[in-house]
Amino acid sequence: MAAIVLDGITKQFPDGTTAVRSLDLSIADGELMVLVGPSGCGKTTALRLVAGLEEVTAGTIFIGDRPVNDVEPRDRDIAMVFQSYALYPHLTVRQNMAFSLKYRRGSGKDEIGRRVAEAARILELEPLLERKPRQLSGGQRQRVAMGRAIVRQPQAFLMDEPLSNLDAKLRVQMRAEIARLQRSLGVTTIYVTHDQTEAMTLGSRVAVIRHGELQQVAPPQELYLRPANLFVASFIGSPAMNLIEASVERGDGGPQVCFGPHRLAIGEKPVREHPALERYLGRKVVLGIRPEHLEDASLARDAAAGSVIGVTVELREELGSEVDLHCAVGVAPLHPAGLGSEVDADRDAGGLGALSARVLAGTEGAGALAGTEGAGGTEGAAVSGPAQVAGPPGAAPLTAPAGPVPSALAATIVARMDPRTTLQVGEQAQVQVDLAALHFFDPETGTSLRG
Ligand SMILES: Nc1ncnc2c1ncn2[C@@H]1O[C@H](COP(=O)(O)OP(=O)(O)O)[C@@H](O)[C@H]1O
Ligand SMILES: [Mg+2]
Repeated sequence: MAAIVLDGITKQFPDGTTAVRSLDLSIADGELMVLVGPSGCGKTTALRLVAGLEEVTAGTIFIGDRPVNDVEPRDRDIAMVFQSYALYPHLTVRQNMAFSLKYRRGSGKDEIGRRVAEAARILELEPLLERKPRQLSGGQRQRVAMGRAIVRQPQAFLMDEPLSNLDAKLRVQMRAEIARLQRSLGVTTIYVTHDQTEAMTLGSRVAVIRHGELQQVAPPQELYLRPANLFVASFIGSPAMNLIEASVERGDGGPQVCFGPHRLAIGEKPVREHPALERYLGRKVVLGIRPEHLEDASLARDAAAGSVIGVTVELREELGSEVDLHCAVGVAPLHPAGLGSEVDADRDAGGLGALSARVLAGTEGAGALAGTEGAGGTEGAAVSGPAQVAGPPGAAPLTAPAGPVPSALAATIVARMDPRTTLQVGEQAQVQVDLAALHFFDPETGTSLRG
């Protein structure tokens, strides 16, 4: 077993694509590090660089204390598990697992038999050893692929979206198995996924990557509580954090954050945690509120003054253990389709950064936002559409214009409420904001205003 260190790794392909950019990452001996990010952000490339299947353009990779840039893949002593299990269809489970050991020095027949038996025991594959891959379920094939990695007793495992081909239920089950297995074997592991839930549940630490660049690396809870920037804030957590353009103003009882008709008394804690807020008095910020920090005020025990906003319920989603309400707040959203697609299940290469940068720079107005959101399925938007918005896109105001606004143009925030809430579509709702859990970001750089 060995630590893995990526020191300033860059990978540029011959066609000019830079898939990985100055990546610094240290994975401790025995640690399970998850790389997470939208599709196309460079996760697979990073893994292939560690495996030696691609050559780095710049930087050094260490496995143990040894720089391995010039070491052949087979001499790096690591085992990869892919999304496609790549099992040999004509070989049995036993033969598939034994295969990689057959041509290695120092693994005699007895030793191979012993290792395969041990892996089969750990993975509960014993009854299936004589079957061919086509006689196995997806989950069982996945376990054989794991078994093949385990028998090699490598210095490290590299896993590239190994659960993507499994149905949701099996994925949850295999996720737990992988976590348990990794812990009991204590093998240094880099695990790649685009699924933030998988990342959060598996990793002792999670590295969030976007456009080949490391955004933040931290334990899961730290990413959730203290996202370093807008991208991490919106990528981690489901439903995604609500992002609203707001301004910070000095009120009677201390600083207030204002958006649309709303005013929230920020209180001490956020100010203490975001020392930089001081400097933003009278300026724009991006306010982040997680859906779980919005509650039906009529169900809240003590709604402090300055913590309640009045909104209109536009959509009610009943999920059993919670009710998600989409509420119009009367300002332009910062999370339209472009970001949504990056953050939601089928993440594509579109981006929050690019989008929020455009949005915040005022090059994309409320009309364009409503238009893209309409494309995502908001009823009414398709009808009203961007054509109804006056002015060229560059000149369109970021906040909703004064006066009555077509509902499709009004920004919605998602509130994850107690299932006892009786609030219905069309109702005016009093929503309590957990003021201790607010996030603030610089609108230009997207960086958190946390000190
Ligand atoms: N061999 C290649 N040549 C050129 N570009 C590539 C090659 N492999 C990957 N890429 C590009 O590099 C970027 C990162 O790809 P990849 O590492 O596969 O992302 P991920 O695994 O995060 O989805 C993408 O833009 C992809 O198109
Ligand atoms: Mg990939």
